[in-house]
Amino acid sequence: MDIQISHLTKNYGSVRALDDVSLTIKGGMYGLLGPNGAGKSTLMKILATLLPPTSGSVTIGAYDLVKQPGEVRQNLGYLPQDFGFYRSLNAYQTLDYIATMKNIPANQRKAQIERLLEQVNLTKDARRRVGGYSGGMRQRLGIAQALMGDPALLIVDEPTAGLDPEERIRFRNLLARLSGDRTVLLSTHIVADIEASCVGVAVINQGKLVFNGTPDELVARAKGLVWQIDAAPQEWEQLEQHYSIISSRSASGSGLQVRLIAAENPFGRGVPAEASLEDGYMAVMSSIHAPASRGIKEASYA
Ligand SMILES: Nc1ncnc2c1ncn2[C@@H]1O[C@H](COP(=O)(O)OP(=O)(O)OP(=O)(O)O)[C@@H](O)[C@H]1O
Ligand SMILES: [Mg+2]
Repeated sequence: MDIQISHLTKNYGSVRALDDVSLTIKGGMYGLLGPNGAGKSTLMKILATLLPPTSGSVTIGAYDLVKQPGEVRQNLGYLPQDFGFYRSLNAYQTLDYIATMKNIPANQRKAQIERLLEQVNLTKDARRRVGGYSGGMRQRLGIAQALMGDPALLIVDEPTAGLDPEERIRFRNLLARLSGDRTVLLSTHIVADIEASCVGVAVINQGKLVFNGTPDELVARAKGLVWQIDAAPQEWEQLEQHYSIISSRSASGSGLQVRLIAAENPFGRGVPAEASLEDGYMAVMSSIHAPASRGIKEASYA
């Protein structure tokens, strides 16, 4: 199910949370990246019809979000960033409650709940209180409630935050599986979540769309801009002032090995490094462009 977002703006009083965002999202898994306060949740709440846009338009499938919110809702499942569970209910009761809210006919409820529990691998824990669940189990239950009614569009807002690496990978795989026959829009600030399985990625910063393309295209944004440099501790401040630092670790002796983004070779003694998705994200966020894209022929390695 395609989403077409056109010149979308959202103000909260004097705060502009989304600023003229235009974006088309097609089937499969689509990632939405951006720092805290970028506007990710605002965009998702608007798409989920829970928040009216200030201006602009959105169509989801054949429906206009503002004019036909009921039809849009019929086709979407949403897992909010701060989904609250009733801790004293078990998973089965939670889903039964949601099914009632969503008007799933009583004679279909049991079969649907059992299928969903199976899908998110919670069948054997279905009768345990949700209050005793791990973070990952809770998020999987959150996905199950969003999948109720088999929506063509699934919107999940930062579902992997706070999960341990193993749960995160398991959850990511679940989303990837679900995106086989529906559109999944996933927001995160964990770049690795996108790398694994997204067909497209959008980056927003301060309410503005700053990148939209494939993960490979995001990686390409950092090509020729990633450097590794061995630095003395006293050089750190200067590096931090002038460049976007990706990582650093102590090297032999008292030195540091620093990975950074820069348009030119840092201190003339950097060694070019291969770009990753995280580098691409940092390049977009720091709005550093390769010399080539400024009209100069090639990024040259001194
Ligand atoms: N109900 C609200 N009233 C006023 N301002 C709000 C409201 N909700 C969000 N904002 C502001 O809008 C901007 C975007 O917030 P939003 O929650 O959409 O960001 P986000 O990208 O989801 O951030 P995070 O990664 O922290 O979840 C922020 O400046 C935030 O403070
Ligand atoms: Mg958010």
